[in-house]
Amino acid sequence: MSAAPSTPAYGELTNQGASTNIAWHHTTVDRAARAEQQGHRSAILWFTGLSGSGKSTLANAVNSALFERGLSCYVLDGDNIRHGLCKDLGFSDAAREENIRRIGEVSKLFLDAGVVVLTAFVSPFKADRDKARALVDPGDFIEIHCAADLGTCEQRDTKGLYAKARAGEIKEFTGISSPYEAPEKPELRVHTGSQNLEESVATVVAYLEAQGIITAPAN
Ligand code: ADX
Repeated sequence: MSAAPSTPAYGELTNQGASTNIAWHHTTVDRAARAEQQGHRSAILWFTGLSGSGKSTLANAVNSALFERGLSCYVLDGDNIRHGLCKDLGFSDAAREENIRRIGEVSKLFLDAGVVVLTAFVSPFKADRDKARALVDPGDFIEIHCAADLGTCEQRDTKGLYAKARAGEIKEFTGISSPYEAPEKPELRVHTGSQNLEESVATVVAYLEAQGIITAPAN
């Protein structure tokens, strides 16, 4: 696991891709100050899995559980983000790579803003997920595999997309005509195909408590 790249020193001019001669400005209010004020750390909860595996449902339910505890949290959902920020991207391998690159960067901003950010993207490629992970420090990126298998997702077919993909009406559909690379060692694997939602939420919340990102409510 690679460490997050350090930020350049104050006043140092750097080149970042096509952006040349830019300098990093350090802010007075930093992540640590936000964590102290809010009483909890920030983190990226990166939900990955096939379409229909329950990523959005689980991310939304965990978000509600955190919100009820008064924590600062926000969901970035693939379908929603594709209504705006990523509406210019399709589903080719390259477009998915760019989608995940943008979400990795946006998640990093949320992390810095002191928010527990929950991302729900198919994010089918290991290399792209690993690049998002490498943007932040070890421990800040929690990969959560929603491990419902293809048969289950296809049977659910909540949006009718698998039927369309089988009929050839949708090209490059994950699991049918485009690959899904399951994470080998995610921080958490949640059995969203067999386990009920309450159990899945409890699994994620317990992990966050065990990692000291949030604290269990006093009895
Ligand atoms: S990702 O692969 O780039 O991470 P993302 O999570 O943003 O995908 O979007 C996936 C959602 O787009 C699916 O839940 C589904 O509703 C819709 N979708 C439309 N076409 C496809 C496709 N070819 N493959 C996968 N999902 C698709």
